[in-house]
Amino acid sequence: MRKQNPKSYEYIESLLPTENESMLKSRRGAESLGLGGISISAAEGSLVQFLVGISGAKKAIEIGTLTGLSAQYILKALSPDGQLWTLEKSKQHADLAADAVNDKRCHIVVGDAQEKLSELVSKGPFDAIFIDGNKAAYLNYFNWAVENIAIGGVIVADNVFLAGAVWGDQSQQKFNEKQVDVVRRMNLKAFSTEALVSTIIPTEEGLLICRRVK
Ligand SMILES: C[S@@+](CC[C@H](N)C(=O)[O-])C[C@H]1O[C@@H](n2cnc3c(N)ncnc32)[C@H](O)[C@@H]1O
Repeated sequence: MRKQNPKSYEYIESLLPTENESMLKSRRGAESLGLGGISISAAEGSLVQFLVGISGAKKAIEIGTLTGLSAQYILKALSPDGQLWTLEKSKQHADLAADAVNDKRCHIVVGDAQEKLSELVSKGPFDAIFIDGNKAAYLNYFNWAVENIAIGGVIVADNVFLAGAVWGDQSQQKFNEKQVDVVRRMNLKAFSTEALVSTIIPTEEGLLICRRVK
């Protein structure tokens, strides 16, 4: 998600390959819902693609499909015999994603992510997990991810700055107390869990990245 358009993003995006037609279809789908601003930017998408790629992922989970744009960045990096399960609560969003994403490795799972995650445990452990769903449930998603990530796998969570709310700045965008508390607790947990090595890439939104090392 990106609210502004800093020059660094424009510069990175001028260097990246142009998004293909199915990615543009995802972008147009989000725009048609008035949600273009919450699709992943190309700069951040390429970062997610890179992280999934260096983890050598075969099995991946995404929480928060929207119209399938970030899913397509993940699929670009996923092994040819890999599988991605991407979870989306809104049937309208999921239908637009299904229309745009043309890849047999991608399973769009419609429903509340927390319920659906418990049904996916038997498919794991997973090599890459991307969290980009309901902010108030981030800690629950993260706890599930820690339990279900393979050793050497990566957990990535977007928007972990909550536009500055995690350090007390609510001037950019208002997040409620629960969302702020949950995301702060998730960030603390990421940095205090012994099995993980974690950092936050200071993108505009804040991208938490964790690797399970034991
Ligand atoms: C920021 S958007 C995801 C953007 C997407 N990852 C991309 O960059 O293309 C968040 C998505 O999470 C979905 N969502 C919100 N609450 C959810 C829940 N409880 N379970 C599953 N999906 C949820 C929303 O409907 C929305 O489509």
